[in-house]
Amino acid sequence: MKNKQLIAPSVLAADFLHLQRDIELMNGSEADWLHIDIMDGRFVPNISYGMDITRAIHRVSEKPLDVHLMIVEPDRYLEAFRNAGAELITVHYEACPHLHRSLQTIRELGAKAGVALNPHTPVELLEDILEMADLVLLMSVNPGFGGQKFIYRTIPKLQRLREMIDSQNTDTLIEIDGGVGRQNAEALLRAGADVLVAGSSVFGAADPVAEVRALKSIEAYRNFV
Ligand code: DX5
Ligand code: ZN
Repeated sequence: MKNKQLIAPSVLAADFLHLQRDIELMNGSEADWLHIDIMDGRFVPNISYGMDITRAIHRVSEKPLDVHLMIVEPDRYLEAFRNAGAELITVHYEACPHLHRSLQTIRELGAKAGVALNPHTPVELLEDILEMADLVLLMSVNPGFGGQKFIYRTIPKLQRLREMIDSQNTDTLIEIDGGVGRQNAEALLRAGADVLVAGSSVFGAADPVAEVRALKSIEAYRNFV
């Protein structure tokens, strides 16, 4: 089976002094979504940007905004990010004591609902919530910073999640986030990933548009083991 192979460049690695230029660059690329990392300095050690920047990006972007909330108590901000233009909203499993309700709220707001797992959180914990998730994001680095090294343990984890989704027959997409680029994209797609987030590998490239094209044109067929 051929993968969906969606590419979501991460704005965290863009040039903040030329944000409009970088977003317009992505408008003219084969990127499918734009990944927006929201960090609060509590759930993760870093602080990025919030609703106002997201809204500003939305004004310029022709790509759907894939908003990744690395914040505590995300329920307090779901509506605000939806109003700021988020098409997909992903909350962390580790930040949601009532995950079912959080995902339900996101869907009621008219967005696609995603759940993210930190590297140490096993995919089996999602067994009873998969049907509520339009997307599962597997962190392949510890959340908080761009440009980190990919954790290889993510690949068997991804394969287990693929099997869970296929056996439950849900439409859930699998997104891999952190340390993704040409060096591991094929392996991830073959293991069953649908969406690849790419920050520094895209915006750090001499030609970001060509880098997106390279990721989109990888010929990978899903491995059945
Ligand atoms: C990390 C963020 C990632 C980050 C990826 O906490 O969730 O989305 O932007 O950046 P790279 O691709 O540089 O690892
Ligand atoms: Zn992210």
